[in-house]
Amino acid sequence: MPPGSRAPALVQALRYVRAPLGLLIELQRRHGDVFTMRFPFWGELVYVADPVLVKRLFTGSTQLADGGPACISCHAIAGAGSLGGGQVGPDLTAAYEKYGGAAGVGPMLAALPFPTMTPIYSDHPLTAQEQANLAAFLESTTGKSPAGDSPWVLVGVGAGVAAAFLLLAFAIWPRRRLSVRRGIAPTPTLTRRR
Ligand code: HEC
Repeated sequence: MPPGSRAPALVQALRYVRAPLGLLIELQRRHGDVFTMRFPFWGELVYVADPVLVKRLFTGSTQLADGGPACISCHAIAGAGSLGGGQVGPDLTAAYEKYGGAAGVGPMLAALPFPTMTPIYSDHPLTAQEQANLAAFLESTTGKSPAGDSPWVLVGVGAGVAAAFLLLAFAIWPRRRLSVRRGIAPTPTLTRRR
């Protein structure tokens, strides 16, 4: 069994019920990404907070259990991929510190009290485990520099796509214009009948 708290099963269960995320974060900090929890009746549970799995939750490679949209569709964050993430919401690289570390990020992820996000996630809440994993991911980017250059990557991709369409348009346009003129030309039939 991986390492874990030696506290009695009942104590761990009560702490989990009161503040699941706080307990998970504390156990992860003390025992590493894989640890054991003990509960009455259920026995021992091995909890895995693998950084790769954790990142997949943010980027949407692993879907959120209750069907909420992936955070990356609106948020950039350091190390989330070459395109960095959406620009609808703020960059979350420093969010862990901004919201007060383990003590503050837990309640924040449980409530997601942001005007744009509340209506979206109130019907699709994050599970306690997703909250813990996302908190771990937010913590992992603390101190890194934000994914600031991502808009320029997007601009580059946009410019490339625009150039491709322009070339396509040049290739197609001349032929189109000719065929349209030919179609319009025979209209003098009307004047002849008058
Ligand atoms: C539909 C777009 C959208 C999605 C999806 C989304 N957010 Fe947000 N988020 C926002 C916007 C916009 C804000 C800025 C505040 C506002 O207008 O609500 C925000 C604010 C935040 C903030 C506060 C940032 C700060 O600097 O104060 C955090 C933290 C956050 N979101 C985390 C998340 C997490 C974690 C997820 C995934 C579970 C997520 N968001 C998914 C749009 C989104």
